[in-house]
Amino acid sequence: MAGRFAGKTVFITGASSGIGAAAAREFAREGAVLALAARRKDRLEALARDIEAMGGRALALECDVTRRESLDAAVAKAVEVFGGLDVVIANAGFGVTGVATALETEDFRRQFETNVFGVIDTFYATLPHLLRSKGRFAVIGSVSGRVATPASAPYTSSKFAVVGFAECLYHDLADLGVSVTCVNPGFVNSEIRSINNRGEYTGKPDPVPQFLVMSAEKAARQIVRGIYRRKPEIIITRMGKLSVFINRLCPCLVRVAMRAATKGRVHKTRKAKHGRPEA
Ligand SMILES: NC(=O)c1ccc[n+]([C@@H]2O[C@H](COP(=O)([O-])OP(=O)(O)OC[C@H]3O[C@@H](n4cnc5c(N)ncnc54)[C@H](OP(=O)(O)O)[C@@H]3O)[C@@H](O)[C@H]2O)c1
Repeated sequence: MAGRFAGKTVFITGASSGIGAAAAREFAREGAVLALAARRKDRLEALARDIEAMGGRALALECDVTRRESLDAAVAKAVEVFGGLDVVIANAGFGVTGVATALETEDFRRQFETNVFGVIDTFYATLPHLLRSKGRFAVIGSVSGRVATPASAPYTSSKFAVVGFAECLYHDLADLGVSVTCVNPGFVNSEIRSINNRGEYTGKPDPVPQFLVMSAEKAARQIVRGIYRRKPEIIITRMGKLSVFINRLCPCLVRVAMRAATKGRVHKTRKAKHGRPEA
């Protein structure tokens, strides 16, 4: 297929749903061949069939980013079949939320295993191939990696960590010809807000008002364009851009507004532990 990524191989973690699946389709439209990695292989196989029906090529790879040997096996298979990697997107992630007083260290550890160490392991598992191709590495961070919100300490701190990781990589890889793009989405349509703190799908509808939520397809088009242009950062959604801009310009304003909007309500969201008031 012709397109901006014709003949290039793209490896995406978390390709079985949401942003990862939409990005895979968009890369296929741009001519790329796809290595699709996630734990739910049936979903990946269905996506691979869709991509092949569009005239593209895709490989479904069962992979858990919290297990390095699983990532290494997926990368080895992709390289064996496609001959190398040109673009890698560390996208797999989920959200552990709740007021900090109701959580434990273990909640943070579980969150960081996927959202932080999963990203770092994806980087090291694919680095030799990206160095060879002078390719592109992208991290899916979040607006929550730029602006802290109440009742989300594990997710927010995991995203601040990977945003920092991506910014450092940008400098460390620049002389080696590998570009690094940090993608920071605001609200995008996906399953993320229907997944509980243990990473299980609950089927609950998205509580975010739909007028604030961008379609995964539109987000994917912006992601593919930004990665193609080797942009250091892409912020997705108008609301996301506005929050990051105001937070950079005047963080105290965001703090005051957030405090006013949530005063007295944060502790009602979950049963509080550690001697804090219970809702
Ligand atoms: N949607 C938003 O509003 C939004 C906003 C900002 C940032 N983000 C970020 O965007 C990324 C994609 O999320 P999404 O919104 O598209 O959510 P999603 O629809 O729930 O997709 C998450 C993907 O991550 C995969 N995943 C989770 N744990 C994994 C693991 N241990 N190993 C391999 N794959 C794993 C899931 O696949 P399996 O369950 O099949 O493994 C799934 O494909 C995340 O990093 C998220 O933090 C999303």
